[in-house]
Amino acid sequence: MPVNRQLKLARRPEGRVSLEDFTVEANALPQPGEGAVLARTLFLSVDPTNRVWMKDVPQYMAPVGIGEVMRSGGLAEVVQSKLENYAPGDLVFGMTGWQDYCVLKPGGALGLAKIPTGLGLAPEKFLGVCGPNGVTAYAGMIDVAEVAPGDTAIVTAAAGSVGSAAGQIAKLKGARVVGIAGGVEKARKLVDDYGFDAGVDYRAKDFRAQLEAATPDGADILFENVGGEIMVAAIARMNPRGRIALSGMISIYNGQGGTRYDWAPIMAKRLKVQGFNLIDCAELWPRAARDLAGWVRDGKIKAEETIVEGLTKAPEALNMLFDGANVGKLLVRVA
Ligand SMILES: NC(=O)c1ccc[n+]([C@@H]2O[C@H](COP(=O)([O-])OP(=O)(O)OC[C@H]3O[C@@H](n4cnc5c(N)ncnc54)[C@H](OP(=O)(O)O)[C@@H]3O)[C@@H](O)[C@H]2O)c1
Repeated sequence: MPVNRQLKLARRPEGRVSLEDFTVEANALPQPGEGAVLARTLFLSVDPTNRVWMKDVPQYMAPVGIGEVMRSGGLAEVVQSKLENYAPGDLVFGMTGWQDYCVLKPGGALGLAKIPTGLGLAPEKFLGVCGPNGVTAYAGMIDVAEVAPGDTAIVTAAAGSVGSAAGQIAKLKGARVVGIAGGVEKARKLVDDYGFDAGVDYRAKDFRAQLEAATPDGADILFENVGGEIMVAAIARMNPRGRIALSGMISIYNGQGGTRYDWAPIMAKRLKVQGFNLIDCAELWPRAARDLAGWVRDGKIKAEETIVEGLTKAPEALNMLFDGANVGKLLVRVA
């Protein structure tokens, strides 16, 4: 008899996350009701927002409650269906949670959806560049920042899953792209592997001088993933009437603090600042995913994955995002 291993939040982590912050239970498989499927988790999507969901702070969704299965996106295989057009064997995206089996239903941007087949792409691409991360990059760069030929765009956390896609999308749309990432190797990778015009290492002592040299004519767009001092340095390079797409603030997710920022330069430069979130992108998702899958298949966008093995490694894997230990999309293989 298969059992359902579940990682339930036992306490709210302080700083780094560990398996001790969870109870690991082996329970009976859940039963799908009408309009739902039972699915077996294959891969978990490891996302910075997982860390935020563990905190009892105001956020865009309710925090995960103590005693609840840890929330997570994932790729799963349908094993039983009580939903029209879904059959055992179908590969699906949904909010699987940190568990072996889950019940999934359609609804909203993060609801159950079929993984497209026949495109010659590995299914796990639809958890990263052709899925939530790529759609975030697409929404932020195209719909929010309205990238146009001739723009200069700065992207932070640029070697990560969202950032590398955002920068490559901006290049495809005719922009000059400057990426900021941690370390010489990642800064090099942005240029050599992802085709950015410049890569800047925020860990370098001369980070600000590097950023200035990489943006001789300033910047029109900031695709912001990090917050804190890196964001402040990037805003200092913005041209009047530039656009800032606020995607994320990973530098503050592990702590309790927020980013303190003096808004005077935003006013003086008349910048447009807009936060955005994937949960509002249900309508955009099909178009974005179709474009992204085409670009990936045609080699116009490159994307990599870092895969960690085993459900119980999920807490440890999450820390990798904060250490910069991932290249591209971070996944946990469950089955
Ligand atoms: N708005 C939305 O709907 C939405 C959806 C998905 C993701 N996001 C946001 O997009 C951002 C990237 O997410 P992702 O899933 O693609 O992760 P990712 O970029 O693949 O991984 C996170 C990267 O952030 C960098 N980082 C971590 N801590 C940092 C710090 N203190 N200062 C500077 N850089 C740091 C690390 O790269 P380095 O080695 O370069 O430090 C790390 O590899 C996050 O802020 C996330 O919240 C937003």
